[in-house]
Amino acid sequence: MHQAVIAATGLYTPDQSISNAELVEAFNAYAVRFNADNGAAIAAGTVEALTPSSAEFIEKASGIRARFVMNKSGILDPAVMRPSIPERPNEEISILAEMAVAAARQAIDRWGKPASEIGAVLCAASNMQRAYPAMAIEVQQALGIEGFAFDMNVACSSATFGIKTAADFIASGSAKAVLMVNPEICSGHLNFRDRDSHFIFGDVATAVIVEAADQAPKTGEGAGWDILGTRLKTQFSNNIRNNFGFLNHCAPEGVGAKDKLFVQEGRKVFREVVPMVSEMIVTHAADLGIDPTGLKRLWLHQANINMNEMIGRRVLGRDPTRDENVIILDTYANTSSAGSIIAFHRANSDFAAGETGLICSFGAGYSAGTVFVRKR
Ligand code: COA
Repeated sequence: MHQAVIAATGLYTPDQSISNAELVEAFNAYAVRFNADNGAAIAAGTVEALTPSSAEFIEKASGIRARFVMNKSGILDPAVMRPSIPERPNEEISILAEMAVAAARQAIDRWGKPASEIGAVLCAASNMQRAYPAMAIEVQQALGIEGFAFDMNVACSSATFGIKTAADFIASGSAKAVLMVNPEICSGHLNFRDRDSHFIFGDVATAVIVEAADQAPKTGEGAGWDILGTRLKTQFSNNIRNNFGFLNHCAPEGVGAKDKLFVQEGRKVFREVVPMVSEMIVTHAADLGIDPTGLKRLWLHQANINMNEMIGRRVLGRDPTRDENVIILDTYANTSSAGSIIAFHRANSDFAAGETGLICSFGAGYSAGTVFVRKR
């Protein structure tokens, strides 16, 4: 069995960003318009009036101050309230693949080896742009990679499921190096007309190269991270759901319904996912002979500040500092599968050889994945 290492990571950040104040202004203008348009029905009690959103609430409930997006103007136009992303001809690279390729190029540069040494590409994300051909195959072609590629979707947990799949491919000898990308245009699945959730998500892409330990440098800059152990868990729940899918057009009455975008029972998610993930981390650590309280850093899925802090407390057994429990929610918001990889990518350069940390993601399904890593 071949051991796997995380050899390099990459990050693509869109150049447009929306502050809470801007988002709230757009929502509140939409709400005023909606209430005026539906004045009679609201007075008759058949339609509920919309209440304004608040930037203070958003920051307190989620820790989010801003989010990067692929298109700002559409989201902030009260008459549109969604990103404006024109379709591209089939001859042009798809937008999701373009983001993934940008992140992948950075990872490949940092890796320092040619893309041709990669044997497989996984596109692991919450929302694929189309049914087929796979986004991963388009990324593979754009980078001139041989071998095979496919898409996988485990919602916010997609990246850790992708890392484990890559590590398993390496263990079994299916590939010597695997590129795993997480392009997320979460703004496309977000209902910007829903006050309870319009602030949650942002857009980004991340990339991870996993390679066989026996061909990676053992020391120095390019040595990467030993993958000490990976574990996945799923448990069905309707509390985070998105019913968008190819059968929607077979039931036209449902097209445009709120459940064709992201919906959640936020409080139930909080109550059920925090214990599930905390216990999983602690048990997995024990099985690997790792004391969780001695981890140098947690790179958790960026769900919201309260969930992340509570999981951090339960795992480390103390109030973690921001240095121990990395938070990038304030500028990126929840970026689904990419969140834990952004955190890892941005906050790992101070690790000395032998120091250990945890990449962990969790989300819809429910699903959760843990990847313990040690700096080589
Ligand atoms: N602006 C102002 N007030 C708002 C608001 C907004 N945008 N959205 C909700 N509120 C109000 C509600 O109307 C409610 O008011 P009430 O008490 O008078 O009825 C109050 O704030 C609390 O609403 P609630 O939806 O219960 O908020 P919450 O405190 O549970 O926080 C989440 C909402 C989503 C941040 C929280 O449930 C959470 O952290 N959930 C975890 C799930 C998660 O992060 N999932 C992401 C995918 S993994």
